[in-house]
Amino acid sequence: MESASFDKPVDLPPVSILEERYPILKHMMTILRDKTTDVAGFRETLKKIGYIVAGEATRPLKSKPKMIETPLAPYEGTEAAEPLTLVPILRAGLGLAGGMLEVLPHARVSHVGLSRDEKTLEPHLYYQKIAPDTASGLTVVVDPMLATAGTASYVIDMLRKKGCDRLVFACIVASPEGIKVMQTKFPDVPIIAVALDDHLNDHGYIVPGLGDCGDRCYGTL
Ligand code: PRP
Ligand code: URA
Repeated sequence: MESASFDKPVDLPPVSILEERYPILKHMMTILRDKTTDVAGFRETLKKIGYIVAGEATRPLKSKPKMIETPLAPYEGTEAAEPLTLVPILRAGLGLAGGMLEVLPHARVSHVGLSRDEKTLEPHLYYQKIAPDTASGLTVVVDPMLATAGTASYVIDMLRKKGCDRLVFACIVASPEGIKVMQTKFPDVPIIAVALDDHLNDHGYIVPGLGDCGDRCYGTL
C-alpha cells in the first residue's frame, strides 16, 4: 500500500460548500432550517454538523508519521505536527464548536464575544480570551452564520494583528454578500460553508436561512 505524504498539507479551495458533497448535511440542514425544530433538536443537529465541519476545516493541518503496532502488523499512521486553535464567536459559534471539539479534543479554544447591533448591523466586542502563542499552527474561526461578514471580518482582522497567518473560516450558512466581502478582504482565508443561501434581507438576515442561530440554539427567542 502506498504511504500517505506528510510534507504537503491540503490547500483548501477558496470556498467549499459542503452540502453539495455530503447529502447527509442537506438532511441535517433541513432540520436546522425547520422553524418547528425545538431547542434540543436544534442544538443536537448543530453539534453533529460540527463533526463533519471539523474534518473539512482541519484538512490543512500539518501531520507527521507515527508508527504503531496493530494486533497483526506494524502500521505507519499519523499524528498532528502543529497546534490547532478553534476560535468560536459567541454565542452561536459555541454550538458548532462543541461538535468540532468532540472530534478535535486537543484543540486550543480562543473565545471572542461579539454581538451584532440590530439596527446598524455593526459588531460590538464584549469578550475575548485568546490563547497565548496564538499565531502558531492552524486557526479555525467558527461562526454558524456569515451574513454581512462584519462579525467575521472583525475577528479575522484581530487575529491577523496577533500574527495568525494560517486561517480558515467555518460556517453553516453563508450569504453571497458575505462571501464576496470575505473574498475581497481576505482572499487567502478559505471559507467552509455547509450551505450557500440566496440573499440577505433588509434586516441583514440570511434568506431562506434558519433565523437567529444564537437565539434558536440557546432558547432566547
Ligand atoms: C450572529 C451570528 C454571527 C453574526 C453574523 O450573531 O452568529 O456572529 O450574527 O452576522 P454578520 O455576518 O452580519 O456580522 P449575533 O450578533 O446575533 O449574536 P449571537 O450569536 O449571540 O446571537
Ligand atoms: N445572524 C443570524 O443568526 N442569522 C442570520 O440570518 C443573520 C445573522
